[in-house]
Amino acid sequence: MEETRKVLYSAVQPTNSLTIGNYIGAIGNWVRQQTKYDCFYAIADMHAITVRQTPAELRQKTRELLALYIACGVDPEACVLYLQSSVPAHAELAWVLNTFTYVGEMERMTQFKDKSQRHAENINMGLLDYPVLMAADILLYQADVVPVGADQKQHLEITRDIAERFNNIYSPTFKVPEPLFTEVGAKIYDLQDPAKKMSKSAENPNGSVFMTDDGDAVMKKFKRAVTDSDGEVRYDEEKKPGVSNLLTIYSAFSGVTVDEAVKSFEGRGYADLKEATGEAVREKLVPIQEEQRRLLADKGYLDGVFRNGAERAARTANKTLEKVYRKVGFYKV
Ligand code: TRP
Repeated sequence: MEETRKVLYSAVQPTNSLTIGNYIGAIGNWVRQQTKYDCFYAIADMHAITVRQTPAELRQKTRELLALYIACGVDPEACVLYLQSSVPAHAELAWVLNTFTYVGEMERMTQFKDKSQRHAENINMGLLDYPVLMAADILLYQADVVPVGADQKQHLEITRDIAERFNNIYSPTFKVPEPLFTEVGAKIYDLQDPAKKMSKSAENPNGSVFMTDDGDAVMKKFKRAVTDSDGEVRYDEEKKPGVSNLLTIYSAFSGVTVDEAVKSFEGRGYADLKEATGEAVREKLVPIQEEQRRLLADKGYLDGVFRNGAERAARTANKTLEKVYRKVGFYKV
């Protein structure tokens, strides 16, 4: 019997430089999930312009992100991988959903309040409307599940509210999506300040290892990683956050468990641990970067992925949009 798989929706904005933390978490999840769910994966460029972007850079980053995800193992044949702005139904459904969403609800969103402070010179309607566009993304595909981290949890809740509201006023139209709290790979911390999560915007650039760092930069950053003065390679998040973080990274990138890693470093010093961890990361990153470069040089291929993705995404999205248009009373010619 053919088993029907659940639909998973996820999107990422093409604005951020990704770190090895994102590789273990976000990118890794996309790769793992594509075999378990019917996945729709979008590059959310329409969300990206809610803060000012340089057009040429946005275009470049969009292509780079697509190439990176494919280089990391996201398979455009196994999932629907597409660009949000190339499927008009997103903007169209967002407009309708706007009329089922209250201004007060949007003004209360934590991320809106936070971004309004950080971009006080540009508190545009799109920034306020961001969660509605996100709701449109998800609801168009009748997604069963949406993987969410803490920062997007509230947006998924409002998506559910909007879906239920619409369903109650008319009749069941949207699947009400469930959050998927991902069994993320290990959490990775800043190499210079292991109390903080590794982030793209770290104060000290040596604290974050980026997916674009070349082999030498990777080795340098690991050699400078903050440890402690106790000298023993042991996993103890509380007392030895720096060393534990290195062990986590080593384990994630070399495919051994943390326990096995600790054993293999028995009687060896921190210098060995740093060197081996840098080496493990470099060994993974270099081929990914080579593949990404190869893909970026093949414009025809990448454009084809986008074209094909848009076509497949639109097929599903338009079905939902048509239902919605009918329910709200738009006259169909
Ligand atoms: N807002 C999300 C982020 O910045 C990206 C996103 C856009 C998204 N649409 C989505 C995530 C729909 C999940 C579902 O991370």
